[in-house]
Amino acid sequence: MRMPKASPASGLIAARAAFQTALRAWYRRHARALPWRESPSVYKTVVSEFMLQQTQVKTVLPYFARWLAALPDFAALAAADESRVLKLWEGLGYYSRARNLHRLARAVAAQPTLPRTPDAWRELPGVGPYTAAAITSIAFGAPAACVDGNVVRILARLTADGTTYRDSATASKAFAPLAGALLPTDHPGDHNQAMMELGATVCFRQKPLCLTCPVRAHCAAAQRGDPEAYPRLAPKVMEQRSVVRVWCERDGRLLLHRAPPGARRFANVHELPTAEQAGLTDAAATRGERLATRRRGITRFQITESIHVAPAPAEKAKPHADLVWVPLADLEAITLSGPHRRWVNEILAARTSA
Ligand code: ADE
Repeated sequence: MRMPKASPASGLIAARAAFQTALRAWYRRHARALPWRESPSVYKTVVSEFMLQQTQVKTVLPYFARWLAALPDFAALAAADESRVLKLWEGLGYYSRARNLHRLARAVAAQPTLPRTPDAWRELPGVGPYTAAAITSIAFGAPAACVDGNVVRILARLTADGTTYRDSATASKAFAPLAGALLPTDHPGDHNQAMMELGATVCFRQKPLCLTCPVRAHCAAAQRGDPEAYPRLAPKVMEQRSVVRVWCERDGRLLLHRAPPGARRFANVHELPTAEQAGLTDAAATRGERLATRRRGITRFQITESIHVAPAPAEKAKPHADLVWVPLADLEAITLSGPHRRWVNEILAARTSA
């Protein structure tokens, strides 16, 4: 966003002391008691920020508790096997976060002191500008503003910004100067968390609670009465994809695809194989009984997946090096990606109740 003189943005910046005070007073009273805020540590901050990337607080809470109990500090995480790390992450999705967090712990554990600046944290695996700002402002009081979708929404409304942004990354970049201008030098971590809290509990995407908002007096969109009109983002064009998967069982074992250790996404995570991975064409696989059809959206793809019973591939013809036979009794112990865990459980439950 441009910030010409006498714009809502320049008015907001001029009134920033009052804005910061109102926001901080509200946060002190209304902040949710979250486990990474109680007796905080750098480790808890890092783990929570990794888990909170693309995931809501209420989903993260049980994972965070289990993780801290199993791996209480950087040294414990650095020493853990990847399979244990992935198992603790199972169901949170975006597994590259878990692998990056693991690599980060190994890098941090090998250094004599913890890095303290956003630039130094950005050198570490999985740390982008948002996470670097969150970690360093919360754990070290560094003057770095966090800008994510929630913060963009708040800032776009405060300034009734009519610009249409191509996507949320472009909007985040555009609002970074304003977010920085509003950041106080004392307790920047509290300010960042207050902005996150406002986005999560008051300034909702739909039906924001403007009447209880602590910074309503500063909000151009609330005064205009059209907060839901901001931010303006170009509509996402969703591409349709279809994926045929197979359910292939032999002697109490299920055929699964395990992504190889070096895979960029999903390394060592198991999934039901696609027809192609099982050495079948989609046409051949869809001749088998259909057990389930599921739709899900991933980034810009709308994916329809159907799961069909397939005959076991011949023992000699191993169609894909990453296929493994997993005894049904061992399914709980391995890491399945979240949707696949659900589908497998649904299919097994339908069978036992049939
Ligand atoms: N989202 C990202 N970081 C967060 C934090 N520290 N508290 C609450 N929500 C968050």
